[in-house]
Amino acid sequence: MPNLTILGSGSYIPGEPVPNEHLARVMDTSAEWIRKRTGIDARHFAEEGTGASDLAVPACRAALEAAKLGPEDVDYILFNTMTPDYLLPGSGTLLGAKLGIPGVPALDLRQQCAAIPFSLQVADGLLAVGAARRILLVGADVHSGFMPWSDWDALHGNGAATPDDFRRATDHRGVSVLFGDGAGALVLGDSERPASKLLAVKVHSDGRLHDALRISAGGFRHRPYLDAGMLERGEHYPTMNGKDLFRAAVQRLPQVVREVCEAASVTLADVDWFIAHQANDRINQSVKESLGVPDEKVPSNIARLGNTSSATIPILLDELMRSGRVHTGQLVCLFALGAGLNWGAALMRL
Ligand code: ACO
Repeated sequence: MPNLTILGSGSYIPGEPVPNEHLARVMDTSAEWIRKRTGIDARHFAEEGTGASDLAVPACRAALEAAKLGPEDVDYILFNTMTPDYLLPGSGTLLGAKLGIPGVPALDLRQQCAAIPFSLQVADGLLAVGAARRILLVGADVHSGFMPWSDWDALHGNGAATPDDFRRATDHRGVSVLFGDGAGALVLGDSERPASKLLAVKVHSDGRLHDALRISAGGFRHRPYLDAGMLERGEHYPTMNGKDLFRAAVQRLPQVVREVCEAASVTLADVDWFIAHQANDRINQSVKESLGVPDEKVPSNIARLGNTSSATIPILLDELMRSGRVHTGQLVCLFALGAGLNWGAALMRL
């Protein structure tokens, strides 16, 4: 049996940091509110016209370089995003074309912030049945397309937002202050070291909470699937029940971390790193306390990047691997919860 391992990682963050203070130019919020309630200081936004597949390209090239491989060595793409370039087709095929590897299968996964445990499980299966040898797992999200202000110059300090724009952005401030853009990629393949492998994955979904975070417009339940009324009512912005998601995360994430450790017969104390999705620093503080694991084992980058959805875990992992903090031989637990609901955890010996 092949042993799934990470052969290389890469990430890409577009543009300059946009500090909380800049959001206060376009909506009724404050840097302190955002910092205190979420742990976020800044996020990055891609340029208009940039899609998830565009952000994925430099992240994938960096991951391939780290793995000492080229695009021609990839035989499967797993593309995770909740903000695809188009409603259809998925972004995976676009990425394949941009990397110059037409014909390589590209599977799009829609598990939102919980993407990585799900796609690691899929990658493990592909490797096990011999359907792929080198898999490019990418998470890329461009949330700037659903930001609720239209005047980006005002955000950057050139002129003031109109009262209407300010009002609309304030209506959606609960969601919009959380998210930032970015991409992370992992090259996965068979390990040369038998100890180095994916030990266990536990994933769950619960559609009863599908409306805790949802974009209602642009769905094919409607004829036509998008109309001016939806835009007028602002149904193209995500709606979120932050309290339900918060509650779900602080209950289900510790549970699934315990589950995955039990499945692999390891203790929490055996785990070197807990690589958590970064939705809200208060969620991760609570998960840490609930599991009784020390701060230094739960690294964070939410202050700099906000929630980058499917990109979060590969970006964080890439930062830690490049700095040498996370390295071969260590036991890493990756866990996340996202819209759907979807949540899960994966345990890897690097
Ligand atoms: N700036 C200033 N005030 C705000 C803002 C803001 N950005 N957002 C909300 N408020 C106000 C509200 O209007 C409310 O005012 P009121 O008391 O006068 O009515 C007050 O602050 C409290 O609002 P709550 O929504 O109750 O604030 P809460 O403490 O719950 O924090 C938050 C909100 C940060 C969204 C939190 O609920 C959260 O992080 N939830 C989890 C979200 C999450 O995980 N989302 C991502 C899922 S992953 C995925 O799949 C993408």
